Amino acid sequence: MTTDVALAVERLRAGGLVAMPTETVYGLGADAERPEAVARIFAVKGRPTGHPLIVHLPDAAALDDGWAIDVPDSARMLAEACWPGPLTLLLRRGPRVLDAVTGGRDTVGLRVPAHPMAEQLLRESGRGVAAPSANRFGRVSSTTAQHVAADLGPLLDPARDVVLDGGPSPVGVESTIVDCSVEHPQLLRPGGIPREDVERLLDLGLAEPSGPSRAAGMLASHYAPGAAVELVDDADAARASADRHRRDGRRVVVLDPGDDLVAAARDLYARLRAADAERADVVVAVLPPPTALGHAIRDRLTKAAAPR
Ligand code: TXA
Ligand code: MG
Repeated sequence: MTTDVALAVERLRAGGLVAMPTETVYGLGADAERPEAVARIFAVKGRPTGHPLIVHLPDAAALDDGWAIDVPDSARMLAEACWPGPLTLLLRRGPRVLDAVTGGRDTVGLRVPAHPMAEQLLRESGRGVAAPSANRFGRVSSTTAQHVAADLGPLLDPARDVVLDGGPSPVGVESTIVDCSVEHPQLLRPGGIPREDVERLLDLGLAEPSGPSRAAGMLASHYAPGAAVELVDDADAARASADRHRRDGRRVVVLDPGDDLVAAARDLYARLRAADAERADVVVAVLPPPTALGHAIRDRLTKAAAPR
């Protein structure tokens, strides 16, 4: 683990893996144009190779640098307004995009992260960085370098790879993914930029996911802690359910996002991880209202609660 970005640049350029902080969650990065480095991401994460990766870029100008083609005006406008920031745009892939990155699809997810260390890494390496969230496949994402080290440390090679420590990720949930490769933009994943903000910028409602992009890696079960997750609608229901579980001898952690959705998103994954550290059997989670960051929190909790 290091805060030395120059070392991370060196490792990236040599084909190693760099776990990097972003404003959303930590990513497990590799040079997006080196197939053997990209293959190691899938191996370390335990992720099936068909699940496509997001390519991280230093700025919106890189869109025209071979990463995308046929970029619609709507996408340019969103990039202009939201980058750097927690928005991923799905676009038709450019010639620099490897099959290994998209799982053979003809679209690619692109994003410019807003984190000083990630920005420096991208700028100084001059590379596009393919990176999924830095956690074992299907499990809780990482919002600190310590989470990354705990999940993936033993699988990384200290001579080739590095974990950059940029402190806790301030947003705490992954980027919002908008598919701009289709006629009417679709919301593929709610995330750090509320859908209402995207819809205001586009001056139109985002469609629900359908078609080929929908299928890519959008599994029902995801973000799952070791504990079972049970969803309830309010604090009273959480108390009643927690009492029931305790009477039955189970260890319970109650997760109530409360009114501050920004703090709730920021702390969500650390709280799920803390429940596992306390060896909880059940997490009883109160669903926040479906507005602003509430969309993303509801999505993650619902997937964490899905049958595994
Ligand atoms: O905030 C984020 O987006 C973080 C940070 C590290 O940037 N990254 C992230 O990556 O969440 P990952 O791989 O955990 O989630 C990306 C999601 C996956 O569900 C993947 O299937 C989908 O994006 N995706 C990526 N490229 C796609 C494509 N070409 N078509 C459809 N879905 C795609
Ligand atoms: Mg992920």
